[in-house]
Amino acid sequence: MTVLLAEVEAANLLPIDVDSLFLGGSCPCDLFRRLQGGEYVLFAAQGHEFDGDSRIRLKQFGTEVLYIRREAATSYSRFLKESLTRLIRDPSISAAAKAQAVQVACREVLRRICEEPRAAFVSQASEIIAPTVELIVASDEAARHLVRLTSFDHATYVHSTNVGIFALALARLFFGEDPQHDLHRLGAGFFLHDLGKCLVPLEILNKPGALTAAERQIMNRHVEDGFRLLEESHMLTDEVRTIVLQHHERDNGSGYPYGMTGPDIHPYARICRLADIYEALTSNRPYHTRRSTFEALKFMRETVVADVDEQLFGHFVRLFM
Ligand SMILES: [Fe+2]
Repeated sequence: MTVLLAEVEAANLLPIDVDSLFLGGSCPCDLFRRLQGGEYVLFAAQGHEFDGDSRIRLKQFGTEVLYIRREAATSYSRFLKESLTRLIRDPSISAAAKAQAVQVACREVLRRICEEPRAAFVSQASEIIAPTVELIVASDEAARHLVRLTSFDHATYVHSTNVGIFALALARLFFGEDPQHDLHRLGAGFFLHDLGKCLVPLEILNKPGALTAAERQIMNRHVEDGFRLLEESHMLTDEVRTIVLQHHERDNGSGYPYGMTGPDIHPYARICRLADIYEALTSNRPYHTRRSTFEALKFMRETVVADVDEQLFGHFVRLFM
């Protein structure tokens, strides 16, 4: 039976990525599908058990997004976290499948906070990031799979997921087992470094071409805006603060917001910046098409390596070997 939602209720729905739904076996809350005419119908009720063909059937319809009620956002987030944690700890599941699952879950929660940067959603994102960090820290193989899996969309939430993965994998390689550097505390900072971009108007964020001085000023505000959003969600550890505030600083003092120089810039922020540059070069943007890994690393060596730590860059290159 098709159940149409009243218009007022339809306005209260949040989109979810279909791939994230299949991290668990049963439906954590009522799910709705949008019909071509714009109406919403109940797709599956809470507790519905999915069979192996459910995903295939949705793919055949070309359905990539389903909808949940806004009130169900917290329980859906809990479902993601529990499914992900269970999956990561299951020794029968391959590192490649685990890597795929964390990428889907991270993308999903970061998309949510990019669309609506509320403190509650930021806290929920950090709960998903925790098992992701656990996987990267625990398994070299999974970290390598994740590095290979990153996609090439330029949307802010995809960029944030990719930078988080690259930066964390690099930090793991660079710091090794050094107990002074707790990757679990760093992880959220890498994934949420650009959180403030959620407040930049889309016409500036996606502008095809160079920004004017005034637009650049608005864009650069994302550093302080991100800092403020994290402060509101009580996620501002010293590590996260450092990464968010310093990830656009440059050795020669031409960066922002403080124009810091050389060794004053924290290694965590340098790691994030390196991952940020690489991700920008290898993803499709309104103003350029993506470079291959080889081309991007070559370009970085020729142009920005003097501005980053040579030793750090060497470790970064090793991530792709
Ligand atoms: Fe940034």
